[in-house]
Amino acid sequence: MDLGIAGRTALVAGGSAGLGKASAKALAREGVDLVVSARGEARLLAAAREIREDSGARVTPVVADHATSGGRAALLAACPAPDILVITCSPPKTTEDYHHIEVDDWRESLDTTLIGPIELMRATLDGMVARGFGRVVNIGTGAAKNPAEIRLLSGPSRAALCNYTVAISKRVARHNVIINNLLPGMYHTATIEERFNAAAAANGTTYEEETARFVDRWRIPSGAFGDPDDFGAFCALFCSRFARNTVGQSLVIDGGLTNVLF
Ligand SMILES: NC(=O)c1ccc[n+]([C@@H]2O[C@H](COP(=O)([O-])OP(=O)(O)OC[C@H]3O[C@@H](n4cnc5c(N)ncnc54)[C@H](OP(=O)(O)O)[C@@H]3O)[C@@H](O)[C@H]2O)c1
Repeated sequence: MDLGIAGRTALVAGGSAGLGKASAKALAREGVDLVVSARGEARLLAAAREIREDSGARVTPVVADHATSGGRAALLAACPAPDILVITCSPPKTTEDYHHIEVDDWRESLDTTLIGPIELMRATLDGMVARGFGRVVNIGTGAAKNPAEIRLLSGPSRAALCNYTVAISKRVARHNVIINNLLPGMYHTATIEERFNAAAAANGTTYEEETARFVDRWRIPSGAFGDPDDFGAFCALFCSRFARNTVGQSLVIDGGLTNVLF
């Protein structure tokens, strides 16, 4: 299926690993030119090379932390007029007990998962409106709709981001500028591999045993963590011409973990 976005330019903020990289790769395979960012340079350069070799697409890496105004300025200098904006980050740290979350933890979470995306949208949506085409996908978390104490630094700020984007999406949709949120559950990404490999080392088990234990404990109906490339394909679809009438949705893709009727 031709997604109808060849020749467009995408800014993928947080694209050197995991779901961001998989989304960048899926867009590149559609003939989209990419500007891809992350904080760590070495992994970013490796990801840019990997995506280029996979698709032949033009990929410009930019080292930038989009939680900061300086990082966002660097990103926008490299890509002032994206047609497509995909924003994500690493899963914020998990929290066992709400008593131990300090104000600085909230500030870090809000800067990365809420203010960063809001400011990138605020800086780019007018241009999309003027050009009559735009697609924005925020890659948030299923915890936005499925609150859990261990996800307090991830879920509440993404729920706020969903609220913001739904409100803004109604204003720009008539100009063919479409904003949606994808809310993932568990996927085999860089951070998850690091976390579950550490647990395996501590428990004398394997990564596979640790993830299987998690699936059992949380009763994930699909019976497995997701494949980032499958997620990336969904993201590309939400960036495609076919997303024209899909306005302000927050789609949970979590193997059935969250009970969402609508
Ligand atoms: N994977 C899962 O199982 C899972 C579960 C629930 C929710 N999610 C959500 O899915 C999203 C993606 O998670 P993931 O597992 O794909 O993460 P990941 O594997 O850690 O990849 C995150 C990417 O974003 C970059 N990044 C992180 N913070 C950044 C910042 N402030 N500025 C610029 N780049 C930044 C990282 O590179 P640098 O570190 O070099 O900056 C990396 O390229 C997150 O919103 C997460 O909460 C994931």
